[in-house]
Amino acid sequence: MRMKCSEALVFTPAEGQFIAYNFLEKSVFECSADLLDLLTRLKNWTAFPDLLDQLPDFSAEEIEAIVESLVSVGAVIAEGSADAAREQEYSETWSWGLPTALMHFSVQDNPFITVAQAEDMQREKARTVGLMQLHRPNGNGALKLPDPMRDKELIRLMAQRRTIRRALDVPVTLEQVSDCLFSGLGITGWTQNCVGRLPLSMTPSGGGRNPYEAYVFARNVRGLDRGVYHYSALDHSLERVSDLEDGDITSLIGGQEWGDDKPCMILLCAHMERTMWKYEDPNAYRVIMIEAGHIGQNIMLVATQNGLTACPTAALDHTRAKDILGLKDLTQAPIYALTLSAPLVDADDAGAAGIAA
Ligand SMILES: Cc1cc2nc3c(=O)[nH]c(=O)nc-3n(C[C@H](O)[C@H](O)[C@H](O)COP(=O)(O)O)c2cc1C
Repeated sequence: MRMKCSEALVFTPAEGQFIAYNFLEKSVFECSADLLDLLTRLKNWTAFPDLLDQLPDFSAEEIEAIVESLVSVGAVIAEGSADAAREQEYSETWSWGLPTALMHFSVQDNPFITVAQAEDMQREKARTVGLMQLHRPNGNGALKLPDPMRDKELIRLMAQRRTIRRALDVPVTLEQVSDCLFSGLGITGWTQNCVGRLPLSMTPSGGGRNPYEAYVFARNVRGLDRGVYHYSALDHSLERVSDLEDGDITSLIGGQEWGDDKPCMILLCAHMERTMWKYEDPNAYRVIMIEAGHIGQNIMLVATQNGLTACPTAALDHTRAKDILGLKDLTQAPIYALTLSAPLVDADDAGAAGIAA
């Protein structure tokens, strides 16, 4: 067997040693200076006897045991393994460097806390640190602007958008889903640049690279069989890709229990390779995240116009979503989900959400 040090390692100094982290495996291990020395000897694929030759002070059994534990924590990759294939894909396709990879892969599949836990943490913060000012106020001499709501239909509609997590037990319609998809991703024109044709839509896309695909998780959509569908902006169509199991929506949004009352969810998945093709600067990663916000906002506004609420969520089970959708490439990633439903609003919600008359 040949082996090699993982390319996905970062190190932080700790008491008398390093803490190492493999961002593709999301594994953490303690690493002494000696271990670090060993890892540097494995920069290239190395056969076990060649490693033994380099470390005459250790027995074959000792080295074997060390290598085995290094493989188990993802520090060393065994040739031909699934980890080796993933590392190879990473080095061949990820062109935005280590810091961006560290950020991207570290936030995949992270566990999320419950609403009760999040509230406890906030109460504790408020008690220990105090509350935080969420706006920068202007002084008395600031120029007062005209009333933005008066006779402004679009702005008034936009002001009605709210995240309402409780849903009425009624279907959304295929037409409503269709409107939401089209407003977020539908193609409204084409443009030509120096090398080819680029799609244009209602939402801006950095360099016109169109990194997003949308998937519809239909639990209760009138006019659409229950299932998971891919939306093609090319011809504004849906194609079935998978069944939808009970509990899928909640589990895909990090276990947030309100998910399964929702009749429908749109999941936006980035194909980062499309943007990487043009932009080598890792800033393009930010561009992709910003684009999700544009698409999401259009979906939310059209949902609002249809009398629905679209609840955005960035808490995702990325691996499970990719499995369901059959997305295999390392540069493809679920980024943002929006559930669609008729809102279940009571007096408390209306007050809290600022939608009282
Ligand atoms: C990027 C992003 C991620 C969000 N993720 C979650 C989430 O995981 N769970 C959730 O309940 N709400 C999530 N929200 C919704 C916000 O909590 C919500 O927008 C906020 O409470 C303000 O309410 P409003 O949307 O009615 O203005 C997210 C919103 C944004 C913009």
